Amino acid sequence: MPVLGIDFGTSNSAAALVDAQGRLQVIALDGARDEMPTAVFFCQETQRVLFGAEAMAEYLAGTEGRLLRSLKSLLGSALMDEYTAVGERSVRFFDIVVLFFKELKRRAEAQTGLALTHAVLGRPVHFVDDNPERDALAQATLGRAAREAGFTHIAYQFEPIAAALDYEQRLPGETTALVVDIGGGTSDFTVIRLNPARSQLADRRADVLATTGVHIGGTDFDRLLDLACVMPLLGYKHIGTGGRPVPSSIFFDLSTWHLIHQTTTRKAMHNAKELWTDFVDQSLHQRLMAVLELHCGHHILAEVEHGKIACSVSNEDQTLDLGFVERALTTPLRKKQLGEALQAAVAQVVACAQDCVQASGLAQVDTVYLTGGSSALRPLVAALQAAMPQAMLVQGNRFGGVAAGLGYCGATVAFDSLQLQ
Ligand SMILES: Nc1ncnc2c1ncn2[C@@H]1O[C@H](COP(=O)(O)OP(=O)(O)OP(=O)(O)O)[C@@H](O)[C@H]1O
Ligand SMILES: [Mg+2]
Repeated sequence: MPVLGIDFGTSNSAAALVDAQGRLQVIALDGARDEMPTAVFFCQETQRVLFGAEAMAEYLAGTEGRLLRSLKSLLGSALMDEYTAVGERSVRFFDIVVLFFKELKRRAEAQTGLALTHAVLGRPVHFVDDNPERDALAQATLGRAAREAGFTHIAYQFEPIAAALDYEQRLPGETTALVVDIGGGTSDFTVIRLNPARSQLADRRADVLATTGVHIGGTDFDRLLDLACVMPLLGYKHIGTGGRPVPSSIFFDLSTWHLIHQTTTRKAMHNAKELWTDFVDQSLHQRLMAVLELHCGHHILAEVEHGKIACSVSNEDQTLDLGFVERALTTPLRKKQLGEALQAAVAQVVACAQDCVQASGLAQVDTVYLTGGSSALRPLVAALQAAMPQAMLVQGNRFGGVAAGLGYCGATVAFDSLQLQ
């Protein structure tokens, strides 16, 4: 029975399975690409629902409709059962997750020619920090969504363990590794003993020496950079009437992928309009209102994310193009800001990595294996290397590693014995 490994990510999702010949097949979920943006777009005009890269492209082209991203961040929260306005209709967030799973299943089946009913779902070490009940609820909700999409048998595996099992396939012998998986929503760590001779074993619990995780990822970096670079142009930290900064919650919502939709409800727009009395510089308030009326919060954040990646890759200052808000409007995103605005968040991530090594009981690990899109973030790589100077840093499969590992898990999983609680 083929078992699909599914990495339902905050920003990107991917899937893989071990085929009848025993070979790993990573599914090209989005055209030629393996990973598919975890994005759903409801098009107002055509009433069509688009997914992945097509959803992002349509939204960024300015088509009227409703974009949903970071759906994973809602798992475990009360919002999951709430309804949200999508054009004329009202749709439950949970049902949007089900739609996404259905589409992922459809694409995987179309590509493999198999009927897929069994799945291993990846999950972060913590969906929700310091709240075991909500964390368990998040996993249960994920499983329920997969079931409603047509998977009848479901098992779960921690995302960093999956990434480690993928790395293990390429190793010549035994090593201890700290697997670092930094994605869009979470940073997950595992200290694990790896040895390809043991890769066929279904139960590897004895080799997992410690896992830790913190709810910080690329979408938090996007928010921090949006607040540092763009939101001041709309009045964030603006000292208004009475010598006080204008109320800031609207700017936090506008910079958070899964909360942006809340800024354009009738009530939120009304409240934002009322804020004009707090502003000394009315041009900032006008720009804020333009952003809300044009519904371009996601577009701004996408531009910030793009600038973050370009700055991290090139190590050069970037210019963000905000011409879709106001003619010729630009703002810099400097590499200095990348370091400064993200410093506290990066420090928390590195501390969580160090906690993991400490909890493992090892004095040090041989290898630090990096996976997940945000593991390429330059200031983060530098901070990790400085914290663990003796370890060898290996840049792994950044986007497909977790799915590949889940595919390997699928080949050995016993469905009733390996369900993580
Ligand atoms: N070169 C880069 N430098 C910094 N960040 C990057 C780079 N490339 C991608 N990212 C970021 O990586 C994140 C996506 O990574 P990934 O696809 O691994 O996340 P995910 O699996 O969807 O999230 P999670 O595992 O937390 O649920 C995004 O926030 C993106 O901005
Ligand atoms: Mg991930």
